[in-house]
Amino acid sequence: MHQDCEKILLTEEQIQRRVQQIADRLNREYAGKNPLVIGILKGSVVFYSDLIRKLEMPIELDFMAVSSYGAGTTSSGFLKIKKDLDKNVEGRDVIIVEDIIDSGYTLAKLKKLLYARHPASVKIVVLLDKFERRAVAIEPDYSCFDIEDEFVIGYGLDYNEQYRNLPYIGILKRCVYEH
Ligand code: PRP
Repeated sequence: MHQDCEKILLTEEQIQRRVQQIADRLNREYAGKNPLVIGILKGSVVFYSDLIRKLEMPIELDFMAVSSYGAGTTSSGFLKIKKDLDKNVEGRDVIIVEDIIDSGYTLAKLKKLLYARHPASVKIVVLLDKFERRAVAIEPDYSCFDIEDEFVIGYGLDYNEQYRNLPYIGILKRCVYEH
């Protein structure tokens, strides 16, 4: 375990098992369709790459980079688009893949923005749901794990851009971010 980790919250095995279960459900729901799977950079990249390799229907990939976090550890209600999609979503079945839903501001604003472009459907898949922290009324359609309000890192999730490459999800030691 990394020295900055308090403990491992979800092991590689637990994550892979759950990602397969979610992929199984998506394979049933999207059988015969050709969804556009949108990864929200950067946190979702590890989850995204594992999830898409478990999908059996034809898919197309696209990415967006948005930001609703400031420099600290809490979310603001402000969404900035840093990179927009390459593809046109009009008439497409869209699957948004996110690493974490916290306040919900990011996904609520993103969903609204995408609906304005007239997709056939939009569904949200998240790896982690910090449900206690929700500030707006939005729920993911698929969620791998509900978690408590703790600072999680690894499997794509960062603190100051570090730890994204850890293969498991850990809880960051408080001393790392409380000086
Ligand atoms: C994280 C996460 C979501 C958002 C969730 O992104 O990937 O986009 O915060 O928070 P919310 O529900 O309170 O809006 P972050 O800005 O940390 O960027 P990153 O994915 O590049 O790490």
